[in-house]
Amino acid sequence: MQKKVMLAFTGGLQSSVCLHWLTRKRGALVTALIVELGPETRAYELGEEAVRSGAAGAHVEDCREEFIREYAFRALRASAIYERGYLLSGALARPLIAEVLTRLADEDGFHSVALGTCRTSNDASRFRSHVRRLAPHLDIIAPDQIPPLQSRDAALEYAEKHGIVPFEGTSAALSYDINLWGASVAADPSLGTWESLSEDYYILTVSAEAAPEQPEALTLEFERGTPVRVDGEPMAPKELVEHLNTRAGRHGIGRVELVEDRLFGLKSREVYEAPAACLLMEALRALEELCLDYATLQVKGDIGRFYANLIYSGGWFEQLREAYDAFLEVTRRHLNGTVGMDLYKGRAVVTGRSSPDSLFDGDALEEFNGAIVPVRRNCPL
Ligand code: ARG
Repeated sequence: MQKKVMLAFTGGLQSSVCLHWLTRKRGALVTALIVELGPETRAYELGEEAVRSGAAGAHVEDCREEFIREYAFRALRASAIYERGYLLSGALARPLIAEVLTRLADEDGFHSVALGTCRTSNDASRFRSHVRRLAPHLDIIAPDQIPPLQSRDAALEYAEKHGIVPFEGTSAALSYDINLWGASVAADPSLGTWESLSEDYYILTVSAEAAPEQPEALTLEFERGTPVRVDGEPMAPKELVEHLNTRAGRHGIGRVELVEDRLFGLKSREVYEAPAACLLMEALRALEELCLDYATLQVKGDIGRFYANLIYSGGWFEQLREAYDAFLEVTRRHLNGTVGMDLYKGRAVVTGRSSPDSLFDGDALEEFNGAIVPVRRNCPL
């Protein structure tokens, strides 16, 4: 019987190779699922492309609003940053993609799901964890079973042999993963770690040198740890992130180059761009400094790191995340207020903060400065 497979399709090299291999070599009936996560909307073109390339049909789901509201903003409130600066754009998208994929596979009576990614990628491992948690009855066609997905070179070779041209806009030379929360791309390993990277690696930001010579002021207002207004104007989550990506990207904000520890124990050199996300993290941190007490800040800092590690390793659907979220539900109560910033030459610099929940008491500080009393912090840490 012909195998029916629902494939999470991005139009990139590996998912195009995967689609080709499943339809041509395995004779499978493949439906491509395109989960739109921005920043550009090209999902319908991708759907058409998938059908032209052999898929029996395509589903397009626009999840941009949900992605920002339910995934990215949770990570923001957790200050979830992996290692020295990865804001998890790619890792945060995987549970949502897996959620849509498994739901539609069940609805349409599919027994198999697939994700076109390299065997050794973090995404392959995350995908397996997410699908196992959400739909253990589904059969996963893992990259291990697909010869051209054993390495990037194998995928390139297969694509060349079969005349597969990845969808326009995704470079064959570099494998970008991009959504509203940021872009990521692994540096070519042959460059090593010394050679500086060309501007080709950056797609959402300009370099600091090319950024405007004048700072641009901006105010951000938060309600319970969620950004809700920019310069006094109310914005829905997706709109707010789109707006900030453009404004911060113009100033070169949000570039991070990292030598990162992958799940399989190897280090890789990665390039990230997350203009809105970096700016929002910076702003919320400024508000937390003002509104959260010392002990809560300490614990919250640790939870942010654990939260990031959990997302990175594919644990979004674990009970532990719910437990962290319960903590964050409490701490966000007092995260109301406004942060002023200057965007300038690659940085978002906090210039001011104000909050009805502020714990800063200038009068008490002045009075205290004049008295001679032993300093004690009233907290257990
Ligand atoms: N290293 C990051 C991660 O593991 C980014 C990977 C992005 N994927 C890609 N195909 N470029 O989440």
